[in-house]
Amino acid sequence: MSAIRPYRAEDLPAVYDICVRTGAAGKDARGQYSSDRLLGDCFAAPYVVLEPQFAFILEADGAPVGYVLGTADTAGFVKHYTDSWIPRFDAAYPEPYAETDRALIQLGRHPERMLEPGLENYPAHLHIDLLPQAQGQGFGRRLIAAFLDAVHRAGAPNVHLGMSPANTAALAFYERLGFTRLSVGIPEDVLYLGRPTGND
Ligand SMILES: CC(C)(COP(=O)(O)OP(=O)(O)OC[C@H]1O[C@@H](n2cnc3c(N)ncnc32)[C@H](O)[C@@H]1OP(=O)(O)O)[C@@H](O)C(=O)NCCC(=O)NCCS
Repeated sequence: MSAIRPYRAEDLPAVYDICVRTGAAGKDARGQYSSDRLLGDCFAAPYVVLEPQFAFILEADGAPVGYVLGTADTAGFVKHYTDSWIPRFDAAYPEPYAETDRALIQLGRHPERMLEPGLENYPAHLHIDLLPQAQGQGFGRRLIAAFLDAVHRAGAPNVHLGMSPANTAALAFYERLGFTRLSVGIPEDVLYLGRPTGND
């Protein structure tokens, strides 16, 4: 049996696991970096630790198999991340960095990259990942609905996300859910999509 529920602190190891198993443009990224936690420390754990109220878990037979997480206020999140997450991140990934990790660690150490000019009217942002066995059954749509409802109630009129242009399956999913491409950033590097958080 599957269900969507709010994130709980004991879900954190599963969140790291789901993140790395879907972290190579939707495919398994285990073994690509010197730690399988690095992707989670950049793109998943800071959200559930700093803003757990915007994280939802999909569980199947009692075990987490997917999540959506993010923030209603990217600028506020960047500040909180800078003050509270970077010290933990730096302690986990001290210099010298392995060559395989360098670019990702720079993303993790520079949350201000999230404040891309042109995204001011899209204050919320999100990440969503489901393990392969949970994909293609409508759960992604339901997780996005849960997230949009939460950030809408928190006052965010619009949401954005940044994604790898190589992840064509995710792009089709987002477009099906009403996300459109935003003229922001360098589309060859990161594709930004956005939509309103409400239904009207
Ligand atoms: C991308 C992802 C979140 C989509 O979630 P999902 O549960 O598989 O998608 P759903 O079953 O809820 O699909 C919702 C709608 O999108 C459509 N859709 C989903 N994937 C699609 C695809 N590859 N091509 C075309 N349409 C697609 C579905 O047909 C469905 O349409 P409908 O509701 O009108 O019938 C999920 O597959 C996933 O986690 N993939 C791996 C990690 C990843 O890529 N995350 C995104 C990183 S940017």
